[in-house]
Amino acid sequence: MLTIDVDKYRQKENSEFYLDIIQGLTQVPKTLPSKYFYDKEGDGIFQSIMSSPDYYLTRCEMEIFTCQAPQIVDSLISKNLDFELIELGPGNCVKSIHLLRALITANASFNYVPIDISENVISELQSFLPDNIPDLRFDGLVGDYFDSLTSYSLLPTKRKVVMCLGGNIGNMTVAESNQFCKKLRSYLHPGDQCIIGFDLVKHPAIIKRAYDDGDGFTSEFNLNLLRRINRELGADFKIDQFEHYCSYDPLTGAANSYLVCLSDMVVHLPGASILFEKDECIWTEISQKYSKAQIRQMAGNNGFIHTAEFLDARSWFMDAIWTAV
Ligand code: AVI
Repeated sequence: MLTIDVDKYRQKENSEFYLDIIQGLTQVPKTLPSKYFYDKEGDGIFQSIMSSPDYYLTRCEMEIFTCQAPQIVDSLISKNLDFELIELGPGNCVKSIHLLRALITANASFNYVPIDISENVISELQSFLPDNIPDLRFDGLVGDYFDSLTSYSLLPTKRKVVMCLGGNIGNMTVAESNQFCKKLRSYLHPGDQCIIGFDLVKHPAIIKRAYDDGDGFTSEFNLNLLRRINRELGADFKIDQFEHYCSYDPLTGAANSYLVCLSDMVVHLPGASILFEKDECIWTEISQKYSKAQIRQMAGNNGFIHTAEFLDARSWFMDAIWTAV
């Protein structure tokens, strides 16, 4: 880094985004937080990734929910009591809708609580759900997952089932996902449950391909992060001087995505000039894969019992049901 004078940007709109980017780009090696992939453009590219033939995760979890929703209902110990079904990051709820319908068919008494940081996601669900599942009781919440969970954890008599689908837990390192599970457990009471989607270890070439798809959607998704920094923070990244690169390490189960800088350059952001060397990589995302044994052990390490597991036909993805002890 050449110069930096970030103090005057601390109070400005978008300051959290700005400070996270500066912090990441001044680290060695440079990093950018993957949560910033998801602006309007990024959401659209992610939709294309999910329908790409090389990206299997969405289809595998969809298969689990379309084919096994009644069995998932049977593994929820609270299904005969009134309970809160809380979904962290519901998206357009294409997978969970199968579970919601199966619960209604089973006459379960529950309130669906989708929680998302995007107001847009919740308002779309508010118009979609009443038309598509007329008998559903639901309360959408906009905000941070754990802040929003606080009020529900104060209802100890009401059972809770917390869903975290889509393999989102994979976008944390193993240490971070253990912290996340411990924190989640601290908001629950014994007997509460969670349903967590994990991408499983499999042939390394299949995993590598999912993050380097033949249509180039993942590359666009990764590069959009630099475009977003240019758009929203007034930076001057030369996008054609960066290239998407991904690796998968079967020893650790980590698929990592990077942006490789193709020439020596200085990138300017308001108050900062950042030096890049040719071939230097910015680490932008981890997509951690787990073995079945690791998932079972992770439950025990974080105050849960691994109650049930649901796999797709190829055993590529697992939705695990954990019960708080
Ligand atoms: C959202 N998350 C589970 C995706 C994944 O597979 O890690 C994000 C993604 N990144 C590149 N492709 C998809």
